[in-house]
Amino acid sequence: MDANATTPLLPEVVEAMRPFWLEGFGNASSIHQQGQHARAAVDHAREAVAGLLNCRAAEVVFTSGGTESDNLALFGLLGPGDHLITSGIEHHAVLHAAEALVERGIQVTFLPCTAEGLVRVSVLEAALKPNTRLVSIMLANNETGAIQPVRELADAAHAVGALFHTDAVQAAGKLPLDVKALGCDLLSLSGHKMYAPQGTGALFVRRSVRLRPMFFGGLHERGRRPGTENVAGIVGLGKAAELARAGLAGDSSSGPSAQSADALAGMRDRLEQGILAEVDEAGVNSGAAPRVANTSNLYFDHVEAEALVIALDLKGLAVSGGSACQSGATEPSHVLTAMGLSEARSRASIRLSLSRLTTEEEVDRAIALVPAAVERLRELSPQGKHLLAVSS
Ligand SMILES: Cc1ncc(COP(=O)(O)O)c(C=O)c1O
Repeated sequence: MDANATTPLLPEVVEAMRPFWLEGFGNASSIHQQGQHARAAVDHAREAVAGLLNCRAAEVVFTSGGTESDNLALFGLLGPGDHLITSGIEHHAVLHAAEALVERGIQVTFLPCTAEGLVRVSVLEAALKPNTRLVSIMLANNETGAIQPVRELADAAHAVGALFHTDAVQAAGKLPLDVKALGCDLLSLSGHKMYAPQGTGALFVRRSVRLRPMFFGGLHERGRRPGTENVAGIVGLGKAAELARAGLAGDSSSGPSAQSADALAGMRDRLEQGILAEVDEAGVNSGAAPRVANTSNLYFDHVEAEALVIALDLKGLAVSGGSACQSGATEPSHVLTAMGLSEARSRASIRLSLSRLTTEEEVDRAIALVPAAVERLRELSPQGKHLLAVSS
């Protein structure tokens, strides 16, 4: 239950990619037939991603993943003297890129969020300046699943002539990603959060937006991202985009074993209710915010999340404490801290994230395992012993 860290490949994705490693391989820039075959496959995948985003194929730039897409959006647009507005709950791919931009003479404002983990439009409006060139706010938060009011935020940015970028990495396949409805000028995707391979991704760049490349080399991706295309990976991303689009449209042919977003939300709610019915001094972080269907961030007071993650792992349940990208770090989650959680409660929070392949039986198992592990850890902790002594 750690699908926000990475998702498995759907079988259809593997099947689509297989020939491009074996008999059908080629460099998409080659003139011969193998090259043409690879080029056609890349073009087809570009159309599929454009179909998911409701944009033109030429507006899709293939990258190596969400981190590169975020960096390309920010570094590709901003120069000395520009003002960037982002938020304190962004993924490190945006936060650390923004910090690096400060060193290059870009002014950066990090917006706060509400206790539910939402960025308010009025807060953005108050921070806009005449030199604000870009606003970058994520669509769905990777730790809490909270869905940001991107359309309203984009409108506010456009009202002063700024561009709007959204990191939609954790929203792909979970929410409609129509860039016209969302009103964004740039949008990041990552393959391995949407059942395509790790090391694949895309950046939507509206046609009117001029982007400087971060790398220099050939003229691939219309000069915006040089380097020989990862043909098999791009084909996988295209297939995953097709499946995501069909899944959102409620098309049951979107994969025999894949759950729909509605089914996932039902499983996630059952999981939360099942666990919280058995544990006291526990709750849902961002529970009152609109959330993507698969994500649940739970706190269990008087428990160290790291110990809980290990205890559950030993029982065969994979979950995450804070975000997986910072595992090993001893700092509490920057997202939960920005929401105003105490350090103790941030350190007592874990994330369970379901995939489209999660089964009802697995939910049952988690409902049995999590309360038992929490109870055991509370018994072992000095704080927990104290609580038991008081209550007995
Ligand atoms: C919201 C968000 N943005 C960006 C990324 C980075 O994507 P990638 O792992 O493809 O570099 C992640 C990965 O966890 C993410 O959750």
